[in-house]
Amino acid sequence: MTGQFTQDAPETECLLDSMRQDVIGKPLVRIDALAKATGTATYAAEYPVKDCLEGVLVTAPFARGRITGIDIDTCLACDGVVAVIDNEKLIARCAQGTAGEAPVQEVRKVAYWGQPFALVVAETFEQARDASKHLKITIQDDDLSDIPCDPQAVEPENQQYSSQGDLPHAMTEAPHSVDAKFTTAGHASAAMEPHAAIAQWDGQTLTVHASLQMLNYNISELADAVGLEENQVRIVSRFVGGGFGSKLGISAETVAASLAAMQLKRPVRVAMSRQQVFQCVMRRSETSQRMRLAAGKDGTLQGFGHEALVSNLPDEQFAEPVLQSSEFLYAGDNRLLTLDLARVHRMTAGSVRAPGEAVGMPTLEVAMDMLAEACSIDPVELRLKNIPDRHPMKGTPFSSHKLAECLQQGAEAFGWDSGLRKPRQRREGEWWIGTGMASAARVHNIAKAKARVTLNPDGTALVESDMTDLGTGTYTILGQIAGEMLGLDPSNVLVDLGDTRLPRGPGSGGSWGAASIASAVYVACKAIREKLTKYANVTEGELNLKDGGVEGGASFAQLLGDKELREEGHYEPGDIEDDYVAAGFGAYFAEVRVNAFTGETRVNRMTGAFGFGRVLNERTARSQCQGGMVWSIGAALTEALHFDPRDGHLVNCDLAEYHVPVNRDVPELEVIMVEERDPAASPIQAKGIGELGMCGGAAAIANAIYNACGARVRDFPITPDRVVACMPD
Ligand code: MOS
Repeated sequence: MTGQFTQDAPETECLLDSMRQDVIGKPLVRIDALAKATGTATYAAEYPVKDCLEGVLVTAPFARGRITGIDIDTCLACDGVVAVIDNEKLIARCAQGTAGEAPVQEVRKVAYWGQPFALVVAETFEQARDASKHLKITIQDDDLSDIPCDPQAVEPENQQYSSQGDLPHAMTEAPHSVDAKFTTAGHASAAMEPHAAIAQWDGQTLTVHASLQMLNYNISELADAVGLEENQVRIVSRFVGGGFGSKLGISAETVAASLAAMQLKRPVRVAMSRQQVFQCVMRRSETSQRMRLAAGKDGTLQGFGHEALVSNLPDEQFAEPVLQSSEFLYAGDNRLLTLDLARVHRMTAGSVRAPGEAVGMPTLEVAMDMLAEACSIDPVELRLKNIPDRHPMKGTPFSSHKLAECLQQGAEAFGWDSGLRKPRQRREGEWWIGTGMASAARVHNIAKAKARVTLNPDGTALVESDMTDLGTGTYTILGQIAGEMLGLDPSNVLVDLGDTRLPRGPGSGGSWGAASIASAVYVACKAIREKLTKYANVTEGELNLKDGGVEGGASFAQLLGDKELREEGHYEPGDIEDDYVAAGFGAYFAEVRVNAFTGETRVNRMTGAFGFGRVLNERTARSQCQGGMVWSIGAALTEALHFDPRDGHLVNCDLAEYHVPVNRDVPELEVIMVEERDPAASPIQAKGIGELGMCGGAAAIANAIYNACGARVRDFPITPDRVVACMPD
């Protein structure tokens, strides 16, 4: 049986508000917490498989050209080597700009340094790794002295252009204006768990334990890459140690392990080294951006311009959507938004941790700080003044909007001083101290999702989907949704995820996971409740379920005898998507200290206030917000991919050289959740939350640095050398 729900209009009534179990929103501990903390959660590479061969990927040591010959003989003669797989299917692209498609690249054409082109398979990992060093290739280079890997040096293609009114005119007429250029560095999507897969082929079915985000798409991508039908492929990803976008599409190690297992008729494991993860998987594009803001005397925006240049490989479609929230965040009649794309030979640029806003919002929010100063207005006040009623270009209404509340509640909790702001007002020893703030915004995405729910007469339930949990808490919130809807303690709900044999979920990406899959579980539970009304002989409104049965009445065993109730919930976003602008909003406040001599910045404290619809679990939601704020600190101060201009290779390809914030860099992070109901966002009235926490936070830190020491740095990350260079004398 199936419950089907396509959302074409706002759902103002949500059953979750009238249920009796009272578990939704509660800060339940993750149901997989103990397994993870004790190391018993089995990740892809750890799956116990007998007689498993080990594969090591071999990657291109040059950034552009062709491999004209591979001499495998020396390699094959090495101890323990079973095979060298170098057929053309292996060169399926290893990164994934757009989920849902994985075209195979031309045979042995190399487009970036580190691109995998062969797999060495041996009895042990050490043998495979050693032999991989003996694989000899001959290369036909294009001119190596002229590798286009600098986005500034090539003619870009326009990807997006929208204009309204006359921005240049508004800029000349306005009493106050800001015209500033910014750059942001490329970011890595290397998550904690390196990419890995174990493939098994029994002659009929290919079973792969992999670390992937979107099994619903990955199954077709993998089937396509290895030449099988979807029903011959099974992918299992029960635990995923973070994705950050790098596991959205099918990946090189999964395809390589599968091809090898099918050819050799033995299980094959391929795990990327940390360096390979950095070199092969998606990067976030570096950007250069120009912000133009024009305002009246009182700070009301009259002109808004945001122009950006990003990069990607030749033929890749993805362009970092830098302007995504700039389209609707602030008012201003005269608008110009443009996005250009330069073709360069660096690894594929794709979706990485809040694609778009993660780098677009910080520049916008620094420009707003500059405008506040130009207008002599408090920066919070400037933002409050410029919140539009509707989408400034399309005229569509917002589904719900909590920016004002977030700004106000965040300011109050932080103790924001709204007096006139001047840099270099507070000094403690070597340190300048200052504060800064910024808005947060991130589009709300939602996706088609299916889930199966079974209510057993013994008062337990089973929730099933191929949905993944990247460590975000998906298992836990689905237990809470089913528990709430069916009157069960969540500990009596078994949640089974990450297996393509189960109904197709939405996958985890773009912050759509929780709202989408929870809506499917909600729809399935509604269908079960409908059946229960017949058993209990009451109407839906009278069906109060709690603790394994009708509240104060029959248990499920008494009601159902030995019959289980099973329903699939199909949720699909319908026409409503075009009727509203749906986004999460928020505000950040930061206090920093900047060393007057070295330019070193430390974050003293940080507050974030966020509005993203219904909170499904107070603890996991808070963790998502905190995680985003940690990334904001990295984007502000340390994170940057560095490419060698001579040969295009990534220089900092491990977590020692690619700097993310560690414990000592992160102060107490205060999170305020401004809860709301968003009836147009999803039937459970929840919005995406995973990425919101890093959409603008870097600007709060940049603005605090300026307030502290007077250095207005417009290049991210704001490293000590850049602070020193911009420090006033
Ligand atoms: Mo996300 S960057 O869509 O995994």
